[in-house]
Amino acid sequence: MGELRVLFEHRDVPGIERMDVYESVGGYQGLARAVTMSRADVIGEVKTSGLRGRGGAGFPTWIKWSGIPADQPTERYVVCNADEGEPGTFKDRELMLRLPHMVVEGLAIAGYATNSSTGYIYIRGEFLESARAVRRAIDEAYARGYLGESVCGSGHRFDLHVHMGAGSYECGEETALMSSLMGERGQPRAKPPHAPLPVISGLWQRPTLINNVETYATVPHILARGGAWYASMGTERSKGTKLFSVSGHVAKPGNYEIELGTPLEELIALAGGVVGGDLKAVIPGGSSVPILTAEQCRGVKLDYESCMAAGTMLGSGGFMAFNDRTDIVKLMHVTARFYAHESCGKCTPCREGTRWMYRIFQRITAGQGRPEDVDLLLSICNNIDGRSYCPLGDAASWPIRASIQRFREEYDYWIEHGRSPVGDDSVPGIG
Ligand SMILES: Cc1cc2nc3c(=O)[nH]c(=O)nc-3n(C[C@H](O)[C@H](O)[C@H](O)COP(=O)(O)O)c2cc1C
Ligand code: SF4
Repeated sequence: MGELRVLFEHRDVPGIERMDVYESVGGYQGLARAVTMSRADVIGEVKTSGLRGRGGAGFPTWIKWSGIPADQPTERYVVCNADEGEPGTFKDRELMLRLPHMVVEGLAIAGYATNSSTGYIYIRGEFLESARAVRRAIDEAYARGYLGESVCGSGHRFDLHVHMGAGSYECGEETALMSSLMGERGQPRAKPPHAPLPVISGLWQRPTLINNVETYATVPHILARGGAWYASMGTERSKGTKLFSVSGHVAKPGNYEIELGTPLEELIALAGGVVGGDLKAVIPGGSSVPILTAEQCRGVKLDYESCMAAGTMLGSGGFMAFNDRTDIVKLMHVTARFYAHESCGKCTPCREGTRWMYRIFQRITAGQGRPEDVDLLLSICNNIDGRSYCPLGDAASWPIRASIQRFREEYDYWIEHGRSPVGDDSVPGIG
């Protein structure tokens, strides 16, 4: 199948981050068409496309868009989640850096479709270059009338602002992001059934649409070429293409765009194949999803349903391949440290559990593991998963539980011998 470029079709065109070049390859035609249509028809086109949110959960985009009460006399907001903190994921950074107008165009279409006049792009604090590119694109879009008081002469007003995050993974969670954007502490808020969805009550208690960068960047193509065209790619339930950030032990790490349903082995081949040994494991969707053994990877297709059937998730597309020099216990030690550091502390299972897990990993990899430690880790996972206030807790437990279920012998070796089963030069270490 190979690469199938929709978002990345013109990624390598020199100057594509500039308005004139972007327009010369068809940029802003999706927006120009959208404003000639009714709002319902724009959302209908997104529905026909089958687009699902690319931020991790794969929720149907049109359902969110149609949930915004577009006719009520109130302010509405459109928010772009560009926090991209999921380890292994770096596609949104490249989209904003190389194709900032595609993101701006997608947001302007969403603003029109939901009758919102204000948009925010919440960008991860470290992404200074991407933010610079987006700011420049916004300035150019105002100058050309794609943003501002009458988008493409439609009479619809849409203003777009950049807001920089401050380096917290939790601020990528949509309700925590909104709290942070309003100047509050970046912690999650209650969700249904205890509170309304953001589409009803989000920023400043107003209806708020929040989507991922890649989700918005896909929309101009759907509007320009039609939802049916987009839906002709991919599988029955996972339509279109998806960006994967490929890293780890591959010859050519980087972002690749493939049709959903492409075999996992093919993505590894696109990235130049495994280096430094044979394939041992894959984490296909960012550090939060369960790890697969090389055996489990065989025949797996990269779409939402096939990944689920294989015992993992497509997630954000942060695809990490590991060779047989990898020590899985050390890998999970790094993972546990990340979640312990990023837990916001609001709820007990996650705040305490992530720290306990990290300490147990410290003990095991210092050669002082106790025979009961593996079962203790599993018990902590069970006490976090499903009992935490937001999905970060679940995400902290899934990879560790799966690694124990699938690589238990490595944990047992560490505990029995006090050293790595892979040898002293195993990777990855921890600083
Ligand atoms: C801890 C945590 C971190 C998240 N980080 C991000 C992120 O960096 N970018 C993102 O788009 N979604 C992130 N999400 C998912 C968002 O909450 C939300 O589902 C997403 O922005 C919706 O966009 P989509 O429908 O286009 O996927 C995160 C979720 C959790 C629980
Ligand atoms: S699960 Fe609880 S402590 Fe962890 S990040 Fe979410 S709210 Fe914060």
